[in-house]
Amino acid sequence: MNSCRILAALLITAATLPAQSMPHIEKRGDHYAMVVDDKPFLVLGAQINNSSSWASTLPDVWPALADLHVNTVEAPVYWELMEPQQGKFDFANVDLLVTGAREHHLKLVLLWFGTWKNGQNHYVPEWIKTDPKKYPREQNDRGKLLDVMSPNSTSNLEADKHAFVALLHHLKEIDGSQHTVIMIQVENESGSVGSVRDFSPAAQKQFQAPVPSALARALHKDASGTWSQVFATNADESFAAYSTSSYINEVAKAGKAEYALPMYCNVWITYPVHALENRNRPSAGQEYPSGGAQQQNIAIWKAAAPSIDVLAPDFYSDDVPLFHSVVTAYDREDNPLFIPETGIGKNVGRYFFYVLGHGAIGFSPFGIDYTNWTLKKREIPDSIAENYALIGPLEAQVAQLNLDGKLQTAVEEPGMARQDLKFGDVVATASFGFPQSDGEAPPGTLDAHGRVLVAQTGPLEFLVTGFDASVSFTFTPAYAKSNNAQIEILRAEEGTYDNGIWKTTRIWNGDQTDRGLNFGEGDHGQVVRIRLHSLPLTGDLATH
Ligand code: DGJ
Repeated sequence: MNSCRILAALLITAATLPAQSMPHIEKRGDHYAMVVDDKPFLVLGAQINNSSSWASTLPDVWPALADLHVNTVEAPVYWELMEPQQGKFDFANVDLLVTGAREHHLKLVLLWFGTWKNGQNHYVPEWIKTDPKKYPREQNDRGKLLDVMSPNSTSNLEADKHAFVALLHHLKEIDGSQHTVIMIQVENESGSVGSVRDFSPAAQKQFQAPVPSALARALHKDASGTWSQVFATNADESFAAYSTSSYINEVAKAGKAEYALPMYCNVWITYPVHALENRNRPSAGQEYPSGGAQQQNIAIWKAAAPSIDVLAPDFYSDDVPLFHSVVTAYDREDNPLFIPETGIGKNVGRYFFYVLGHGAIGFSPFGIDYTNWTLKKREIPDSIAENYALIGPLEAQVAQLNLDGKLQTAVEEPGMARQDLKFGDVVATASFGFPQSDGEAPPGTLDAHGRVLVAQTGPLEFLVTGFDASVSFTFTPAYAKSNNAQIEILRAEEGTYDNGIWKTTRIWNGDQTDRGLNFGEGDHGQVVRIRLHSLPLTGDLATH
């Protein structure tokens, strides 16, 4: 189809569909879920490579996504392509993404590669790149112009905002009643690479002015004064974080006023600098883009960017404790957890289960397409494919259970082959690896890949699934003793959800349940609903 026919088809479908509520993020207590077309929705995502949102490459994108069993694709929109001349917009690639996602029954998260891409300006249109007088660059402390746009410039902000609003307007027209596009990433890994902040004369003036009082209040800083007075040694980076987050907030706010999709910012996080000499912390503007929503800048961003619904860490490392610390930093009462990018290293399958247990609204490995960039020879990461194949049919239930705070996961760690999950007085014990012998500790798996999900669906009812683990249920010793009670299985049904309705395929008993529910090696993809009851532990129960 040529681009005019694609657009016409998009507009016709938009006009004929019933209205449903906008995609949004719902909060219950401290828990979150995406809601799409009035149903909880878990993003089982994948992000395509940077240069893959093209007619020439999209044929290599869709099969990889299908092989990974994703329900959502994250794909970039390039400002330089969308507004090649100032005020003249071309949405052909956006339309291709929307029609392609629909054809492949996927939801779409669009990534706005605007002012920032990985702490630089490489996606701004030529008419901006070539006019640094009108669209100022950041300058480092020696006055050098960088390939970073100044976040302290109104003309930069207005140009980005204008383009972003045009994009949202177009999305409202073509997708306002269909909701293929469920969320927008505003910019990409914002912040500045090459300088801790903008030292241009205009920025200098703002830096020497008093810190905005609303920010000082939000950060519980009573000092009123300049950035250096209030933030001392962190003044430069804090100024950069405030400038960047305020700018992006304006872009997001204007976009939402046009079409109110959920919006997030992905973060090039701060990694520890093991390898660097004479320094115990990484430097802003060198090892990470200064002023992004890194762990240490979350409070500033939350105060200055209320139109951004989610600060979402990208994670590229096999360091499991580091992953846990990053998840803890972003899983906040005021921030839904969303991992919009991960590498596809050896732990990625476990990371997914780990974030589900933290109530994540979604997860997405990076570089999933068959353009031979990230995935050589079409090698799909098995652990993600099997995770998504398992959770895909339960996706709405998992999102709802997380919104209700009823779901937990156990993820194997080397040397920790048994883990307990507590649901009030009930303990679900996950034992990893097989064979498991009575009275002995479980062996664990060779590469510690065991993972388990348990969700409470009633006082003594649970939904259970996992890989290479057994799961058994007991009362806590204290409860068992004071209530003279023990747990017994009434019924364990293997099955799946079909359009939200549970369908039993068989009942597990005997060897499949005697030593816990057995999610054995090679038996991937099983889901069990288990109903338990409380039986007296001891005593004469004869009726007299
Ligand atoms: C993180 C960025 O957000 C992506 O766009 C991409 O550049 C990856 N890094 C590459 O590894």
